[in-house]
Amino acid sequence: MPRNRTVLVIDDEPSMLRYMRTLLELDSFDVETASNGAEGISRIEKGPVPDLVFLDLLMPGMDGLEALDRMRKIRSDLKVVIISCVSDTAKVVQAIRSGAQDYLTKPFEKHQLDHVLERCIEPESGKTELVCEVEDLDGGGFFLAATVAMKKIRSEVGLVANVDIPVLILGESGTGKEIIARLIHQTSGRKTRPFMKVNCAALPADLLESELFGYDSGAFTGANKAKPGKFELCNKGTLLLDEIGEMPPHLQAKLLHVLQDGEFSRLGSRASIKVDVRVLAATNIDVQKSIENKTFREDLYYRLNAFTLNVPPLRERREEIPQLLRHMMSRMSEDYGRSPLPMTPKFIEACSQAPWPGNVRELGNFMKRYLILADENLAIAELAKQLETESPKSPAKAAAAAAGADTSDLKTMVRGLKDGAEMEAITRTLIQTGWNRKRAAEILNISYKAMLNKVRQYGIKPPRSSALHFADKDAS
Ligand SMILES: Nc1ncnc2c1ncn2[C@@H]1O[C@H](COP(=O)(O)OP(=O)(O)OP(=O)(O)O)[C@@H](O)[C@H]1O
Ligand SMILES: [Mg+2]
Repeated sequence: MPRNRTVLVIDDEPSMLRYMRTLLELDSFDVETASNGAEGISRIEKGPVPDLVFLDLLMPGMDGLEALDRMRKIRSDLKVVIISCVSDTAKVVQAIRSGAQDYLTKPFEKHQLDHVLERCIEPESGKTELVCEVEDLDGGGFFLAATVAMKKIRSEVGLVANVDIPVLILGESGTGKEIIARLIHQTSGRKTRPFMKVNCAALPADLLESELFGYDSGAFTGANKAKPGKFELCNKGTLLLDEIGEMPPHLQAKLLHVLQDGEFSRLGSRASIKVDVRVLAATNIDVQKSIENKTFREDLYYRLNAFTLNVPPLRERREEIPQLLRHMMSRMSEDYGRSPLPMTPKFIEACSQAPWPGNVRELGNFMKRYLILADENLAIAELAKQLETESPKSPAKAAAAAAGADTSDLKTMVRGLKDGAEMEAITRTLIQTGWNRKRAAEILNISYKAMLNKVRQYGIKPPRSSALHFADKDAS
């Protein structure tokens, strides 16, 4: 007989303990209770460790935050869900940063408790069907979360949305950092105000500075008229600083100043301007490495990472792929005015196995092609090719794979050969410039943005030693 899972509830209100006991026992949990922090801690010391702890934040004597710290010192793997009131949001953020798994806001109903249990406790074997949460985004698109990791991110988005602190969103290219930023904005009290994005990798330093902070007339040759920057235009709203890891050092200092004091001055002006902008930052590079290499200011990092969201790559949440496919198909077919295409188990399986180095973006592009070409076999063949060329992804292999394709598919073959040659030239130039993508773009006479896109498209990776530092870029 499998054992029942144990839940410990720590709360000073007897009515709350009774309520939790009733709800949890309905789901066959073994429920233990403690009416203060000290009692809860001694229960953890005694063991065995419960599968989950619900911990009230506000209790007389030792409060929830202290109890959390002490319990996690005893058992660092302890899973704790904070129970709080709406007004405690800032403290809940602190608790999540100190290792709490999730939170519940009083008063809550059974379905809200169920969502938390679903996110925090491994499903019993046989009950693995994922229930997905989908939300429409203002301005188009949608956000889907089906795995525990993504539902946790959604729950954290809800938490940080209304606390005006910067959020650092980390993850590989195409994992959904921007849509998470949009979700934070539209869940927050700023939702009727502007949401803007500045890509720090797509502009040279001086242009980036005027884009962010604006300029006064006469600030530089050609500046005939004053122009406000994004910080002014976005007042009371949310500004996403994308590819923050690429921001030049002198601008990092200026940004730090705005984050600290909410003040800055336009280029060519001494007058200081006060703004109220919520800053979100995203990057796909390893910021710790950049700090070590002194290309990223440590003090700015600590300002920005008041809260960090780590978005996992798609290959680490493959269980989500079938749901993403279904939702993409129904929305894209509507957008393109086409009937949805069937998706056979074979098709879904092939998609679930593919490596998707470009993550959800790549999956979306693949679905667009499938919808237009409407040929399941071709789509599956494309995925097989992706697997074949994945490791090592050599241009010769890509070309050979394309050349070996059915000769009736001349277009595919020619495209494969062209791509192979292009990829070889880019890889060679990157090696030659020590992975300086700006220099490589100049040598090949393409824009920096095009270079970043090609590197991503072909999945060109730097040598292992520098792999983290030079992770894929995108200058969309
Ligand atoms: N959870 C998700 N649900 C639905 N669509 C998603 C999800 N995650 C990503 N996408 C889609 O994938 C594409 C890429 O997402 P997004 O632009 O947010 O990625 P990113 O992490 O910012 O990438 P980059 O680092 O390259 O800028 C978008 O079309 C987005 O709608
Ligand atoms: Mg992005």
